[in-house]
Order: sequence, then C-alpha cells, then structure tokens
Amino acid sequence: MSTLTKQVIRDEHASLAAMLQSLAMMVRMGPGDERAAYFEVVRAMLFYIDEIPEKQHHPIESSLLFPRVVARAPEVGDVVARLDREHARGEETVRRLQHELLAWELLGDERRAVFEASVGIYLRFYEDHMRLEEEIVLPAAERSLREADWAEMDQAFAANHDPLGRLLAGAGVSGLDPLYQQLFSRIVRLAPPPVGLGGT
Ligand SMILES: [Fe+2]
Ligand SMILES: [Fe+2]
Repeated sequence: MSTLTKQVIRDEHASLAAMLQSLAMMVRMGPGDERAAYFEVVRAMLFYIDEIPEKQHHPIESSLLFPRVVARAPEVGDVVARLDREHARGEETVRRLQHELLAWELLGDERRAVFEASVGIYLRFYEDHMRLEEEIVLPAAERSLREADWAEMDQAFAANHDPLGRLLAGAGVSGLDPLYQQLFSRIVRLAPPPVGLGGT
C-alpha cells in the first residue's frame, strides 16, 4: 500500500543519500585551489544534512511511525530503540562535524584528518541507519500496520507539512520544500564537477 508517509520517508532517504554521497566526493577531492568555495559548499552540505533530518525526517519517524510499528510488531522493538537513540544523537553528531570543519578552515591543515575521518564514520553510520529503516522497520510496518494506522499517519503528517507540494513535485530532491530546494540548488551551483556545476 502506497501512502504519503512511506513515500516521504523513502524520498527523504533518497535525497539524503545523494547529499551524503556528494559530501563524500567533496571530501575525497579536497579543496585544491578553491579553498573558500570548498568550505562554503561543505558547510552548506552539512547544514542541509542537519536541517532535513532534524526538522523534517526524524520527527516523522520517531513520533508517527516508530510507536505504531512497535505496538503492532514488537519483534522490531530493539531495532527501533536503537534508531530512536540515533535520532536523539543526530544533531550533536552533525554539530561536531561542523566544528571540526571550522577547525580545519580556521586553524589549518593539521585539523583536516580529524574532519575527514569523522565524515567517513558519519557516512557509514547514516547508511546503516537508513538501511535498518528500509530493510527492517518499513517492511515490518507494511506487514503489521492496518489501513487505519496509515490513514492516521498520513493525516497527522499532512497537518504539519506541505503534502500537496510534495506529491506534485514527485520523488527525490524535487519533493523537498521550496526552501530546501533553493539550498540544494545553491549547493549544486557552487560545488565543482562532478559533484555540481561550479566553475562550469
Ligand atoms: Fe531515521
Ligand atoms: Fe529515516
């Protein structure tokens, strides 16, 4: 059964995964001669990754989806508890990355390795997190939730978001709120190829 809630969770995973891959590519490429542009783009990417999960994505999962799944499919309770803990720590983790990036920018290359190592750990952490949600939690929800649960979630979701815009815009980053689309376009404009269009 396709519902707004499920569609949005999958769409946001897809756009987050794309942004995480772009961040990984930026980190692999390094600043080169475009130091100022590099830090601006990486900073904007971290801001995006912080904003979408914290303000849009985690609240939907933790408040709407997870409690219902655990109630109907208690066997996934441990996984959901872990994912909830990860949501709670998410903001702090991105703050640390932002600080480490600033340290590299302001204090110099001595601090570069710390940031790069943390990005690597963060990417693996986030990929595992989304994989658990897609491979364990969403299938459990599909198996166990009832029509009324989905309808309730869609209704609660629609009250706090702009579902029409999302539905009209379709999947992926184009399904984001206009504010975030602007931010995404800015990143694409500034980032050097092959990540974005900067300097082309
Ligand atoms: Fe999550
Ligand atoms: Fe998620």
